[in-house]
Amino acid sequence: MDKKSKPNHGKETLTNQQGHVVTDNQNVRTVGNRGPMTLENYDFLEKISHFDREKTPERIVHARGTGAHGYFQSYGTVDGEPISKYTRAKVFTNTDVQTPVFVRFSSVVHSKHSPETLRDPRGFAIKFYTEDGNWDLVGNNLKIFFIRDPLKFPDMIHAFRPDPVTNIQNLERMFDFVSQSPEAMHMITFVYSPWGIPATYRHMQGSGVHTYKWVNAEGKAVLVKYHWEPVQGIKNLRQEEANKIQATNFNHATQDLYEAIENEDYPEWELYVQIMEDGEHPELDYDPLDPTKIWYKETHPWHKVGMMVLNKNPDNFHAETEQVAFGTGVLVDGLDFSDDKLLQGRTYSYSDTQRYRVGPNYLQLPINRPHKKVSTNQTGGQMDFRQDYGEFKNPHVDYEPSNIGGLKEDNNPGVEHQPYVEGELQRNAIPRENNFGQAGETYRRLDEWEKDDLIKNLVSALSGCRKEIQDQMLNMFYECDKDYGARVDQGLKNSSNSQTEKMEDAMHDAERMGHPSDPY
Ligand code: HEM
Repeated sequence: MDKKSKPNHGKETLTNQQGHVVTDNQNVRTVGNRGPMTLENYDFLEKISHFDREKTPERIVHARGTGAHGYFQSYGTVDGEPISKYTRAKVFTNTDVQTPVFVRFSSVVHSKHSPETLRDPRGFAIKFYTEDGNWDLVGNNLKIFFIRDPLKFPDMIHAFRPDPVTNIQNLERMFDFVSQSPEAMHMITFVYSPWGIPATYRHMQGSGVHTYKWVNAEGKAVLVKYHWEPVQGIKNLRQEEANKIQATNFNHATQDLYEAIENEDYPEWELYVQIMEDGEHPELDYDPLDPTKIWYKETHPWHKVGMMVLNKNPDNFHAETEQVAFGTGVLVDGLDFSDDKLLQGRTYSYSDTQRYRVGPNYLQLPINRPHKKVSTNQTGGQMDFRQDYGEFKNPHVDYEPSNIGGLKEDNNPGVEHQPYVEGELQRNAIPRENNFGQAGETYRRLDEWEKDDLIKNLVSALSGCRKEIQDQMLNMFYECDKDYGARVDQGLKNSSNSQTEKMEDAMHDAERMGHPSDPY
């Protein structure tokens, strides 16, 4: 049968993006049937040019991830008292509303299709589409971070990610950086324990990590930390378990979340907050703004304030999960920043990278725009697809203030929280660094089997490092806890096996199995 007269079997007709019907999607246009091609193959040129641009830059960190839609509902109280005592944020005070959310889980260091079994912190980012506009809580699974000064972030990520020459992650580079950054010891203790490989995204905790503020109707603020507790329970993987999964499936966490939601087994997390009076708290042996520190439950109890349910998979990975853009600056009335330097550094970085990664009008995309109406004079730029710029007057007013018309600022905001700040401009570390105290305490609080795994994982990672790095790391493990130091020390003495030697052993094993036949 002539291809032109093939039946369509009721299928919709293929068009190009100009709406032209595509009559042949199998053959380019050529001089004679063997070619050459001619340059006016518009359909081919458009198709291949679009394809050439199908991938956008991946995230500079947290490239591998998966997402889901759901909702958050506040319980409206903190330890029996109305939550409005602490915050006027409607997402917390209005208990009748189920606030829609989009959550993206991720790993940090490696690229978009890297295995989900790697030892790495996990991202836990939530976009709340509240009645007052968007609130993003961009956190991790662990409760602390490696560093406390944002100036160190690019160096830290360079050291952690693959070597720019070989494209192979080299733990010697990572521990070279860590051995000079004692504030990282607490996080390293978590990451090299079984807490460094959460079993799935459904079975991990989340934390805002930083200290934020809640502001009430009188403009009075308290310091808060946020924590998510999975109703499914917490599960971590031992290295051997992770290796087994990775051998057959490197998308297991994405698959687990997707299938649970498809099967209507909706994952849930309860939100807890810890609260501290605003201030420096000289009675503590750490600074409450330090993101490398835990506020212990014993001194600052967790208060249950709400529940999040994830109940819908995205319709399209690229449109939603890939293009969603979270940022620590995205707060609503009643929520505020603290002076945590790392938090302030992050707040610049996210929207900066998103203007490059997604484009200057990234906030117009359905996944990023708030569910409430946006009325703004920020118009134009590449891919601004709004046609309705608001009420037209002659002349049109896209500035403020104006006598003629246009938008008007809100003259009735709540009482502003106005912290008093004074001091010399300086470049200095915070006074109460206390880099080892909590790392040692975390080591002592681990179960015995978790300690065993921690030591084994650290020894395996450090055995490939040169002696001066090992020695510096050992000094710091001893500073954290004598037993911790002694066990890593002993482990390194017993292990002479570097990463390269381990790989060579594996290659020799493979060689002993014989060479494959070459059928050509
Ligand atoms: C992603 C910067 C520390 C959690 C990102 C991205 C950047 C960035 C540029 C990519 C964003 C995008 O392309 O949309 C920084 C800087 C930090 C820092 C400069 C420190 C100075 C942290 C900390 C946490 C964190 C402490 C956890 C509390 C995340 C998460 C994502 C992310 C969860 C992925 C968000 C998503 O799923 O789209 N970060 N980050 N980061 N960061 Fe950070």
